[in-house]
Amino acid sequence: MNKILIEGRRLRLRRANETDLPYIMTLQFAPENLKFIVPFDEDFQRSVMRSDGSEKLNVIIEELDGTPAGYFLLRGLDTPCAEFTHVIIGRKGLGYGREAMKLLLAWTFGTKKFHRVWIDCKEYNSIALHLYESLGFVREGCLREFLLTDGVWENLIVFGLLESEYSA
Ligand SMILES: CC(C)(COP(=O)(O)OP(=O)(O)OC[C@H]1O[C@@H](n2cnc3c(N)ncnc32)[C@H](O)[C@@H]1OP(=O)(O)O)[C@@H](O)C(=O)NCCC(=O)NCCS
Repeated sequence: MNKILIEGRRLRLRRANETDLPYIMTLQFAPENLKFIVPFDEDFQRSVMRSDGSEKLNVIIEELDGTPAGYFLLRGLDTPCAEFTHVIIGRKGLGYGREAMKLLLAWTFGTKKFHRVWIDCKEYNSIALHLYESLGFVREGCLREFLLTDGVWENLIVFGLLESEYSA
């Protein structure tokens, strides 16, 4: 099933299927991405793809001709508060991250009527921090020394955006 969530000027978001698995795994394990995320394994990805999508969705970001441009995962879809996670753009620096996040916000708030969305981000991920803050996400807190990466404890910054803030 190639279900399209939403389409924009250059990109669309569609539900991932098992033919996307190699792309998603390659993207997650590329060194320039891996340092900023904790990858999901193939079994987990497959289980999400085979689910009914009511709680979690893995999503491919693609150009309108079908060329893949990135990936992310949504969870908490069975609650009023959706989480965006593992946002990864394969073709960086083209404004695709911003465009994909805007489409995602339009889908979560405009189409699906969520009350709140949230995302976390490593404290030193300056590009992602800038992107989320510039889209209106509010820095809500810091999960101190939350992730142990190569022997170093890392802080995670939590960002949230309410539907009322998005609408305003
Ligand atoms: C973070 C990420 C999703 C952003 O996607 P992107 O398509 O590269 O970003 P965009 O081109 O949309 O740019 C977004 C903003 O970041 C800025 N930016 C992009 N690349 C940059 C760079 N190398 N250095 C400094 N700023 C940069 C852009 O200028 C833009 O800000 P502006 O609109 O105010 O000018 C992408 O870089 C990525 O996949 N990173 C690795 C994985 C990751 O960190 N994911 C987030 C986990 S929380």
